[in-house]
Amino acid sequence: MTQADLVVVANRLPVDRVVGEGGELSWRRSPGGLVTALEPVMRRADGAWVGWPGQPDIDVEPFEFEGTFLVPVRLSAEDVELYYEGMSNDTFWPLYHDVISEPRYRRVWWDSYVKVNRRFAEAAAKAAAPGATVWVQDYQLQLVPQMLREARPDLTIGYFHHIPFPAYGLYSQLPWRRQVLEGLLGADVIGFQRVADAGNFARAVRRQLRYDTKASGITVPNPDGTTRRALAKAFPISIDAQSYVELAERDDVKARAKEIRESLGNPRKILLGVDRLDYTKGIRHRMKAFGELLEDGRISVEDVTLVQVASPSRERVEAYMQLRDEIELMVGRINGDHDTMGHTAIRYLHQAYPREEMVALFMAADVMLVTALRDGMNLVAKEYVAARVDNRGVLVLSEFAGAADELPSAIRINPHDIDGMKDAILRAIDMPAAEQGRRMRALRKKVLENDVARWSRAFLDALADARRYTQYIAPRNDEEVGA
Ligand code: G6P
Repeated sequence: MTQADLVVVANRLPVDRVVGEGGELSWRRSPGGLVTALEPVMRRADGAWVGWPGQPDIDVEPFEFEGTFLVPVRLSAEDVELYYEGMSNDTFWPLYHDVISEPRYRRVWWDSYVKVNRRFAEAAAKAAAPGATVWVQDYQLQLVPQMLREARPDLTIGYFHHIPFPAYGLYSQLPWRRQVLEGLLGADVIGFQRVADAGNFARAVRRQLRYDTKASGITVPNPDGTTRRALAKAFPISIDAQSYVELAERDDVKARAKEIRESLGNPRKILLGVDRLDYTKGIRHRMKAFGELLEDGRISVEDVTLVQVASPSRERVEAYMQLRDEIELMVGRINGDHDTMGHTAIRYLHQAYPREEMVALFMAADVMLVTALRDGMNLVAKEYVAARVDNRGVLVLSEFAGAADELPSAIRINPHDIDGMKDAILRAIDMPAAEQGRRMRALRKKVLENDVARWSRAFLDALADARRYTQYIAPRNDEEVGA
């Protein structure tokens, strides 16, 4: 089998399986930001990508796709239920998002998580050339770094955590809190979205494992009694900003933005929410604020419409089914109370759209509402900003989204404070063009400068440095052991 010098390991492969009209199977690149970010890096490095093809119980041989070697990991229907829907999305996800929804700690889920992580680690170990760099992605695979290090001490291992890492008081609920920390510490560099996440992680390591931490460095004992250094640091992720700019400048996309406004009855202002349908996103809080503004008579449906795109997500997990029911009940009530024949309060779309349509929506929207109760980064906030090539529009941004650290020129809100959020929405609706321009220019500068290519470069550079450091320090440790 081909071995690569750079291997990415993620829950999902960067492709989706499509069945053609005649029943023939093919693969299409999936639209995610990580995929776009790593595509050039992977191509240059002749890289390999290890991941699940997205459907249970299918056997697919490794294959080449657009310059990357793809290594499928098989998951059975039971693995999907226990490792992915259970442990990943009904334990880690709610726990790491500050227990907005109650995490369930089930031992059968954990057993499956360990087993599946081992399968990913074995596939990665096979795909990696001697001395290769392996980059593990996200909370579904937290045990892979340590498993890989045990199997292949020659590798340089990175891990990036795309979601928040919680405060120790919450993290310590996890029955397997030690194993997860040890799993992550198998990496040479452990990347987080925010400085606060890296800090929470270092604190958990101190409290739980009693290892020394200094600045971003953590001293990790080796099995042979020597020590090594791991780095835990913030690397805020971003988007392929230029591709959004290019779409926003296309005539057909501009025309579509106009068409969207018209089809909504040309309201004076359009508010927009775009989220996976997830309880972390604060969709109910946002709708409550909007509904109350209508109720109070501070806005009217003739004037203002809220477009809410809520793309289907994790639909077999109970908490997500419940949330969908609650949101749809709310939309029905608000619209029922306030709609007129010609105007609707909330245009609710439980659908996913291609990027062109999203950019048209961003251009049509006067106000973008990002009201997450907790969010690792929130790339939608950055996409909206990148798409506003006209330097207009207002971003209302929750302080609980990672993006808030980098985007101080947004209107900041605490989504739990409904009155505060209502005032912020009104302020955004009424913001003069000059102030919109001033804020949007500052936001755009940040997003265009710090794009996703820069993110992956910063992470891989830190990883290369870590390796140099380890190689330098290793002989000295041997000498000490020998003496
Ligand atoms: C978040 C996570 C990703 C995950 C994505 C979509 O952004 O950080 O790891 O892939 O949500 O969730 P899904 O369950 O559909 O993979």
